[in-house]
Amino acid sequence: MTRLLVLCYVLATGLTLRADAVDYLTEVLPIMKEHCWDCHSNETEVKGNVALDPDVLFDQIGKYNIIRPGNSAESGFVERLKLDETHNDFMPRKGKPLPKGEIERIEAWIQAGAIVDAKKPTEDETKRMAEMKTTAPAPGEGRPAEPGFHSWKNREGRVIEAKFLGLEKDSAKLLLRNGKSYVVPLTSLDEESAAKAKRLVAP
Ligand code: HEC
Repeated sequence: MTRLLVLCYVLATGLTLRADAVDYLTEVLPIMKEHCWDCHSNETEVKGNVALDPDVLFDQIGKYNIIRPGNSAESGFVERLKLDETHNDFMPRKGKPLPKGEIERIEAWIQAGAIVDAKKPTEDETKRMAEMKTTAPAPGEGRPAEPGFHSWKNREGRVIEAKFLGLEKDSAKLLLRNGKSYVVPLTSLDEESAAKAKRLVAP
């Protein structure tokens, strides 16, 4: 039963990763204000050269910056939140680790393109969104998927894209783009996806 819930959760996350309206103002700023503001805002102090105020956040976003649109796995911003609390680089420097759900919201925001204000996208952001749409097609749209990634459908018809890591007893181990892996019982996948998992392990 818990596994079924996990699957539903995975599929729901997979869907939010593609939602367009995920932006910093609505999804992430409230989390930052609660956990990071004392040390990372122009209203207070700017430690480590990182101000998280929306008007200057653009400085931290880019292919080689701490927030890498569409690539939360390599965003230093997220890495620091996931470190062990005792690690030197762990953030927040003071206070409790962010709840898992909040880290996932931040990851989903980065995966969706790290847009600051979806109502008023900058020229760069509009371009980025267009590029992301062409390079990362939604699963099942018939365009080629990233190598190694497959679409998986559950019995309720929801679809996610994930890498297949192998079978564990009667469950498929799947790796999402954000680096998280999940164990999904074959019985909760639709017939075709379950068959695909079996085919992928067969030599
Ligand atoms: C008590 C103060 C404090 C709080 C709260 C805090 N930080 Fe920091 N942060 C620092 C200091 C000091 C540095 C610079 C030293 C370092 O890089 O470790 C830093 C550096 C960083 C960096 C590194 C920038 C780089 O160029 O690599 C990131 C990213 C970061 N913080 C994110 C966060 C986030 C996100 C939060 C909230 C979840 C947070 N911090 C909360 C003090 C804090």
